[in-house]
Amino acid sequence: AKKAVLGPLVGAVDQGTSSTRFLVFNSKTAELLSHHQVEIKQEFPREGWVEQDPKEILHSVYECIEKTCEKLGQLNIDISNIKAIGVSNQRETTVVWDKLTGEPLYNAVVWLDLRTQSTVESLSKRIPGNNNFVKSKTGLPLSTYFSAVKLRWLLDNVRKVQKAVEEDRALFGTVDSWLIWSLTGGASGGVHCTDVTNASRTMLFNIHSLEWDKELCEFFEIPMKILPNVRSSSEIYGLMKAGALEGVPISGCLGDQSAALVGQMCFQDGQAKNTYGTGCFLLCNTGRKCVFSEHGLLTTVAYKLGRDKPVYYALEGSVAIAGAVIRWLRDNLGIIKTSEEIEKLAKEVGTSYGCYFVPAFSGLYAPYWEPSARGIICGLTQFTNKCHIAFAALEAVCFQTREILDAMNRDCGIPLSHLQVDGGMTNNKILMQLQADILYIPVVKPSMPETTALGAAMAAGAAEGVGVWSLEPEDLSAVTMERFEPQINAEESEIRYSTWKKAVMKSMGWVT
Ligand code: G3P
Repeated sequence: AKKAVLGPLVGAVDQGTSSTRFLVFNSKTAELLSHHQVEIKQEFPREGWVEQDPKEILHSVYECIEKTCEKLGQLNIDISNIKAIGVSNQRETTVVWDKLTGEPLYNAVVWLDLRTQSTVESLSKRIPGNNNFVKSKTGLPLSTYFSAVKLRWLLDNVRKVQKAVEEDRALFGTVDSWLIWSLTGGASGGVHCTDVTNASRTMLFNIHSLEWDKELCEFFEIPMKILPNVRSSSEIYGLMKAGALEGVPISGCLGDQSAALVGQMCFQDGQAKNTYGTGCFLLCNTGRKCVFSEHGLLTTVAYKLGRDKPVYYALEGSVAIAGAVIRWLRDNLGIIKTSEEIEKLAKEVGTSYGCYFVPAFSGLYAPYWEPSARGIICGLTQFTNKCHIAFAALEAVCFQTREILDAMNRDCGIPLSHLQVDGGMTNNKILMQLQADILYIPVVKPSMPETTALGAAMAAGAAEGVGVWSLEPEDLSAVTMERFEPQINAEESEIRYSTWKKAVMKSMGWVT
């Protein structure tokens, strides 16, 4: 059959905590042409520990690329039209590997991991100067969430890592660095880099000077020689060294939440998006200003789309557990067999019947930053069944979003008039309706919810030397939206929210 004639195409790796995807877009229309997805294992070797195998992550990327290319072939689309690849990734997750062998020296320590709680406590006692030392430079609170303390743990506890550092063979990276280094040749010439958005999640990066911060590295005792080079989010880093797309430049790199902000085209000051993945992350573009929150939000780098382009910042509300609670109901309680079944269960009852589920599996992130919290399910009666628990799990995602939206509105002064959403869970219509009810503003979802991948593809396609994607707004206006309006009355919405807050208070202080 004749091959279909198309404009230039751009591929995007979306390496999330739960799964890896590769997606290919038409750069002229932003249409998604094909994709493939592979679920990623999570290991819980001890209570509070969360690890992943960096090799499995890398293989899943290759597998997704190969399968997507096969699917494109079946559609008669010539893969030589793919002109660039972007990478978006779960942020903060920490990998250390040997640059001579390409072997990881330990499992990836995942962002959700809590093993560094005691490290955080002892470090917080010796913060130099005022308590603002870390936050004023990085925009982040001192927390187990970020890479610096995970790397500190690896340096303190893993002999192989210590030895490799002594022998000058160790490289550190978040998942983007590990992937780009491996995909561009690994031990035979791989490029060791990261982008400003991922760097801003390590707690070692100065978000004002856009450089690794010497004082922070001294404070966390991190050898600077193992850190990757920091680049913009849109430039050619290197070429694919193997597989179906060998020779294609990798020219976009963004932490997944920044990628979604770009993919949702939130380029203006005050535009925000909320992505429902393993966790849930609400980011609001604050333009070229670094805004510091008074209500538990983070200040983070939103993007820098080109070497000579300005940096943009965002305020971020981070919720650790969103989709992960559905996976927990599937894998740990077995009340559903597939994640999609949650919608059917919730629909059967249409209410939690007074049951509240606070999934504080990794403590509570924004706005509380409370490591002592643990998950609770409360308000149970003999009437409660698995459908109510399923409903309460979905409501929990919405209540957590309400908490960060409230914080965002307080910090920004001008309340958001609607919420732009994306991510896998937004296919769940019950969740979307509940979200509109609980926020009491409309929730707006693009018909193509893969905005994380789209953002990475846009950055890759727009890079200097690639130039197949224009970031001008008129090229991107054809996106159709689905809208969910609040359907309950405001008073009922408030009552449910205040009961949720009571439940949150009960989840705190479980670990001392
Ligand atoms: O900060 C963690 C975040 O990047 C993880 O994203 O998509 O796996 O929930 P996701």
